[in-house]
Amino acid sequence: MAATGSEIVAIARALPSAGLERLRTRFEVRVGGLDADRERVLAIAPGAAGIVADPAVPIDSPLLDAAGPTLRVVANFAVGYDNVDLDVCRERGVTVTNTPDVLTNATAELALALTLAAARDLGTAERDLRAGGWSGWDPEGWLGIELSGTVFGVVGMGRIGRRYAGLVRPLAGELLYANRSPRPEVEDELGARRVELDELFERADVVSLHVPATPETRSMVDRDRLGRMKPTSVLVNTARGALVDAAALADALRTGVIGAAGLDVYSNEPGVEPELLDAPHCVLLPHIGSATRRARDGMARLAADNVIAVLGGRPPLTPVG
Ligand code: GLV
Repeated sequence: MAATGSEIVAIARALPSAGLERLRTRFEVRVGGLDADRERVLAIAPGAAGIVADPAVPIDSPLLDAAGPTLRVVANFAVGYDNVDLDVCRERGVTVTNTPDVLTNATAELALALTLAAARDLGTAERDLRAGGWSGWDPEGWLGIELSGTVFGVVGMGRIGRRYAGLVRPLAGELLYANRSPRPEVEDELGARRVELDELFERADVVSLHVPATPETRSMVDRDRLGRMKPTSVLVNTARGALVDAAALADALRTGVIGAAGLDVYSNEPGVEPELLDAPHCVLLPHIGSATRRARDGMARLAADNVIAVLGGRPPLTPVG
């Protein structure tokens, strides 16, 4: 079906067809393309009533200036929205939305996969096998960290943190969490105990991060916090790279301050800090937390439905800010 309205929606980079087709039937849609750089995004913005962004697209004054006064909604194709300058959007009356819930299972499952992969150093084991470095069953080879009965620490008990906590509950001897406010229902359901952040880092065998990147959480895992962790502990980050001081983490892995790390996110994506590429016991993934067909289609539909709602004069489904 051809677009019936004259309003323009700019997809800064790409949107799966589950969402794209919904927009195409209603609006004139411009697509930047997966390799769209800043210049390209600025070039497709003028006159847009809606912009669909993602974590790789900064939404700031220059982009809003480029879009002009027609802009009414920025739909972020992600649950995190640290790429969006909310103050600037608010000042200009632009609604901002994200895609919660639909990616909770996918992201929590990836965090579980990274936890196990890091603890058993699966990346190294697989690379060694493929490189012909396996000469037989080795009683002392590829030894990892066993997690059954250990202490799991969940930083941030939002939707994804809670799902992760539920997934690791059968493994955990004890479940600790740190969160701004207590979550009594999680304590009742999972037997989790709320502690201060420093205590969590000191006591947990696995620390998994599930908080957004904000000025308060930036570099929350710094040299001091890493120094509090056990030498056999595992750090997992599927949230945002900005939470972790990458150089300090690489040092901690190299010197045995902690045992292993599993990372899906980095401060300057798609760049990965070179120190991390060289660090031992470190599994590195290319930001694939929500990368399942089900999650990505759900995110695409939700982003599109948010645009359709706002441009149709209705309240957004999942607003932020
Ligand atoms: C992905 O990183 C997201 O925030 O959804």
